Amino acid sequence: MTTRAVVRGVGHYLPDRVVPNSEFETMLETSDEWIRSRSGIERRHFAAEGQLTSDLATRAARAALADAGVDAGEIDTIIVATSTPDLTFPSVATMVQAALGMERGFAFDVQAVCAGFVYALAQANALIISGAATRVLVIGAETFSRLMDWTDRGTCVLFGDGAGALVLEAATGAGTSDDRGILATDLHSDGRFKDLLYVDGGTATGTTGHLRMQGKEVFRHAVEKLAETAHAALDKAGLTPEQVDWIVPHQANLRIITATAQRMQVPMENVVVTVQDHGNTSAASIPLAMSVGRQRGQIKQGDVLVTEAIGGGLAWGSVVLRW
Ligand code: UT7
Repeated sequence: MTTRAVVRGVGHYLPDRVVPNSEFETMLETSDEWIRSRSGIERRHFAAEGQLTSDLATRAARAALADAGVDAGEIDTIIVATSTPDLTFPSVATMVQAALGMERGFAFDVQAVCAGFVYALAQANALIISGAATRVLVIGAETFSRLMDWTDRGTCVLFGDGAGALVLEAATGAGTSDDRGILATDLHSDGRFKDLLYVDGGTATGTTGHLRMQGKEVFRHAVEKLAETAHAALDKAGLTPEQVDWIVPHQANLRIITATAQRMQVPMENVVVTVQDHGNTSAASIPLAMSVGRQRGQIKQGDVLVTEAIGGGLAWGSVVLRW
């Protein structure tokens, strides 16, 4: 018998304001055609003034708790994956804990940029397997609009705001790939690539800073590393690409998503794609895609999902789970 971290519920929240590509045509030398053809993005959501990452995270958490039929008081751990915390500290996770009225358990943030949700899932899995936690709320929440340099057309058209959340619960499995729950995790980082994607602010400058990216270089690493980590996670799970029901990729660029699926020899009909509607929401993109994929009727109980993501660090990884 093996302890597994099984998905009990999922939910998401997107801010009301939808920004179509055409809005950027009025302020930058860009076009809807360029943005669509180079990234697959058609629109994204931006948080309202004063609406913070913790607000988005709390709403997504409430949606996931409702889907799971679980009270906040039954949660013993909250992990928030984010690179856009309201404040340097305390963590967004403790803010969510307070907003949900929880007085017990423990809460912390994970910062692995766009790979954040994959890292957070791996941490939640480790806590559950070790017996340190039984029911974990894993949230990806971002307000990347706050990090944009609105004069840099190479980055500001790509990102959006949003949040998604999962409730994971300890369950007993047979220890085979037929079990529901997280079956394998595969994490990597390589700090030698820190200058490819970063925010030029923090305690070093005393400002929040703006996102800087060498897009072409990040693209090259993404295509190479994502299929590799997904294959590694599948191997660890004892599964093959033919057994994958859904790839739920980090939603940064449709061309990266397509190239990764091709390398994995998984048809695009088996890939959950939301990048057209959300843009790149960093650590929020995978749980958002899971929640939307569930609402669309794509993801069903028993399906094998492969997530994969890469971002600043560089940090990347993959999680294989049976829903
Ligand atoms: O989630 C974290 C990981 N991040 C990513 O995965 C992002 C990875 N990178 C990408 O998605 C792509 O590299 C981009 C979408 C950022 C750019 O696509 P690209 O095909 O790599 O284009 P490029 O950077 O090579 O730029 C091509 C041209 C350049 O003009 P020149 O130098 O060829 O004259 C850019 O100046 O497109 C120009 N350009 C734009 N033109 C119109 C860059 N941004 C824009 C824009 N509108 N918004």
